[in-house]
Amino acid sequence: MQSNFSPSSVPTRHAIRGALLDFVADPFYYPELECVRYFPDGLLVVESGLIQAVGDYGSLQAEYSDLPTTHYSNQLIMPGFVDTHIHYPQIEMVAAYGEQLLEWLNQYTFPTEAKFQDESYARKIAACFLDELLKNGTTTALVFAAVFPESVDAFFTEAFQRNLRMIAGKVMMDRNAPDYIRDTTESSYEQTKQLIQKWHKKGRLLYAVTPRFAVTSSDRQLQLAGQLLQEFPDVYLHTHLSENVKEVALVSELFPDSNGYLDVYDQAGLVCHRSVFAHGVQLTDAEFERLSAAQAAIACCPTSNLFLGSGLFKFDRAKSRAHPVKLGMGTDIGAGTSFSLLQTANEAYKVAQLQGMSLSAFKSLYLATLGGAEALNLAEQIGNFTPGKEADFIVLDLQATSLLKLRNPQVPPTLETLADTVFALTILGDDRSIQATYIAGELAYERIGSTGASSGAYSSAHASAS
Ligand code: GUN
Ligand code: ZN
Repeated sequence: MQSNFSPSSVPTRHAIRGALLDFVADPFYYPELECVRYFPDGLLVVESGLIQAVGDYGSLQAEYSDLPTTHYSNQLIMPGFVDTHIHYPQIEMVAAYGEQLLEWLNQYTFPTEAKFQDESYARKIAACFLDELLKNGTTTALVFAAVFPESVDAFFTEAFQRNLRMIAGKVMMDRNAPDYIRDTTESSYEQTKQLIQKWHKKGRLLYAVTPRFAVTSSDRQLQLAGQLLQEFPDVYLHTHLSENVKEVALVSELFPDSNGYLDVYDQAGLVCHRSVFAHGVQLTDAEFERLSAAQAAIACCPTSNLFLGSGLFKFDRAKSRAHPVKLGMGTDIGAGTSFSLLQTANEAYKVAQLQGMSLSAFKSLYLATLGGAEALNLAEQIGNFTPGKEADFIVLDLQATSLLKLRNPQVPPTLETLADTVFALTILGDDRSIQATYIAGELAYERIGSTGASSGAYSSAHASAS
């Protein structure tokens, strides 16, 4: 085991000193340097799980000199990453060979997800999954469970124990799948309703109504999903949309009265400001416009889109000035190939390059933090270091590998030099770059062997107190 998940003994009020980077606006629409907030020597003050103050160490030092302070002198501290699309029951089948979407689902995915009727098994996998998220610096995710309510109970139980800000839901799928993994139109409605009542807003947990995709839902099931959104106006809608060419053709066969894939969901009342659609690789311009008008979000999943051969996401359409669409990054484990949002940014860069566009690290890190929070309508709670937000943040080791050590010889002293350093981090970095993950101000994960923190006043959980 390379990693160490430790209960924390952090006092409720404490401070973190180090280089702080977050985003205060969208660099796709505003000059990048105006969107980035960077304190090469900053102070982050945390009280009762929330951010109390952020700023330059020199300016805040006097006011907070009495606080126990952990100093990360050679690292970069950022808000926790937000993964806007991932499947927890697919962790074991990541890297399944040889198929594209529809065959991949039948051959690998459905048999794997069938195991999640067993709640104790589901608990075990949910625990591994959440450990993996924290190890990769992901502090919030929008998560597919499986079709079984037990799989949702297992996930939320584990997430609640860890005090995480997580969104998840039971998969609804009443047709075009094997018996052993189908629900019925009625049971999907009833079970979803019960799960919403049980889990939505418990602690930091939120519920997403989760029809798998148009192929595996009857028209009536989609209508009932729409009814649930009416009955519970602050839950999410989470599904897949226009990922693969054969899938899009199948949807138009299955829904001959629809005017395209998005329209299937629209007719059921599923396209709104709380909707998050994974992939959107094959979307038409008109569909991008409709998503923009509805203030719905797309979860862009580049490692998955490449792995399954689905295609290249059109960043320029999603982030157009005329019809902007809320956009987050998704790893889409197990079609995606990495839990790391850094590796996801790496592949996103190449996807953009293949379309003649360069995606800067400030843009991809924005998508992985504040952009993801905005896509999930959570920007008042998470996404950056603005005081009052929840103190979920990560400590990045800029020199986690020998190659990164050569490439990133120092913590960048200025905003201008920062761009190059974090670009290398997004291309070369992965879970090894995550030195520590804090949840609601408390240390929840620390990489074994990391030596970066020095803590004046406290803590057995901080590895290298000096
Ligand atoms: N479309 C429907 N189900 C799935 C899934 O599990 N993964 C991906 N990538 N696409 C889907
Ligand atoms: Zn998916």
